[in-house]
Amino acid sequence: MRLIYLDYNASTPIDPAVAAAMRPFLEDHYGNPSSGHWAATAAKAGIEAARGQVATLLGCQNDEIVFTSGGSEANNLALKGIFFALRDKGAHIVTSRIEHPAIIAPCRFLERQGARVTYLPVDGTGRIDPDDLQRAITPRTILVSIMHANNEVGTIQPVENCARIAHEHGVLFHTDAAQSIGKIPSGVDKLGVDLLSIAGYKVYAPKGVGALFVRRGVSIEPLIHGARHEGGRRAGTESALLAVGLGKACELARDLAPMDRVRTLRDLFWQELQKQFKDRVVLNGHLADRLPNTLNVSFVGRIGAELLGQLSGVAASTGSACHSGRIELSPVLEAMGVAPEVGMGAVRFSLGRGTTRDEIDLVVERLTNILATAG
Ligand SMILES: Cc1ncc(COP(=O)(O)O)c(C=O)c1O
Repeated sequence: MRLIYLDYNASTPIDPAVAAAMRPFLEDHYGNPSSGHWAATAAKAGIEAARGQVATLLGCQNDEIVFTSGGSEANNLALKGIFFALRDKGAHIVTSRIEHPAIIAPCRFLERQGARVTYLPVDGTGRIDPDDLQRAITPRTILVSIMHANNEVGTIQPVENCARIAHEHGVLFHTDAAQSIGKIPSGVDKLGVDLLSIAGYKVYAPKGVGALFVRRGVSIEPLIHGARHEGGRRAGTESALLAVGLGKACELARDLAPMDRVRTLRDLFWQELQKQFKDRVVLNGHLADRLPNTLNVSFVGRIGAELLGQLSGVAASTGSACHSGRIELSPVLEAMGVAPEVGMGAVRFSLGRGTTRDEIDLVVERLTNILATAG
């Protein structure tokens, strides 16, 4: 059976150039980067070069990059780090209802520590209304965190606008860019953000590494206390191996040209599905302001997980989950107000650098056969 991978929003393969850049750090450069002798030199140089590559992608200074274990840690460091640094000033945080659990769960934790969190609603396409943000900010607000692009439906948020509103009130702005870097421009100055999270394995680097951009002058309380690694913002001996992997991946991600081909394939996929299934297929997310690789579609009246079960060999995700025989919509689709009979048929296909026309044609053909047989 032919295996087809259409789940690049869940994880990407490691790019061969990333693996090649990492190899010397796996095999040779074992020194502790903080040591003062010859064995530290290559490890330290590797980390600092990688920091420069990440900073170049984001358009920031090298010392504004803090390496983390991934997107969840970067998000936790942003939210808790700002809360514990600024809670005397105020304890109100504004976020949205469709954030990844790596934002929602730390917000719930902070509520237990005395924070007040406002979860902004979204419209049917998954976008927040900047006017809602304007109204939500109070003199006690210390942080706004709105994701750059949504992992399930790909909708891109009006981050620049929201960051401007936050700054007009003297409030810091964080964005979770785990899904957007390498897919759409994500420079921190253009977006106007003070903090931004990324995750390595969404951008052809390995799992276990990510980064948080922290604008100069913004102080955060570390999550992990210890020695003064990462400018005192994250203790723990750095992994040169992982940092170098992320650095190389960020260097490759500066070239967004491969996304044009991915967007063309994604649009072709959607056109073919519409041709085959007409009004029995519905697009979830924003038609235009959406990640170029993401196609979240509902097969009306079907169950996404069952459909994927029949599409054996095809790796994709479903927005609905089945708990003890009951279908539950994903919180994202629910917040978008997607009707249950539509949302339960949601399947997220996410394409990437390796996706081919041939694979899309094959998946459309197999879906057509499955749905024809199912009546
Ligand atoms: C938008 C978003 N934020 C954060 C994360 C979590 O990142 P990690 O798994 O690296 O902790 C993910 C992972 O799917 C994500 O899609």
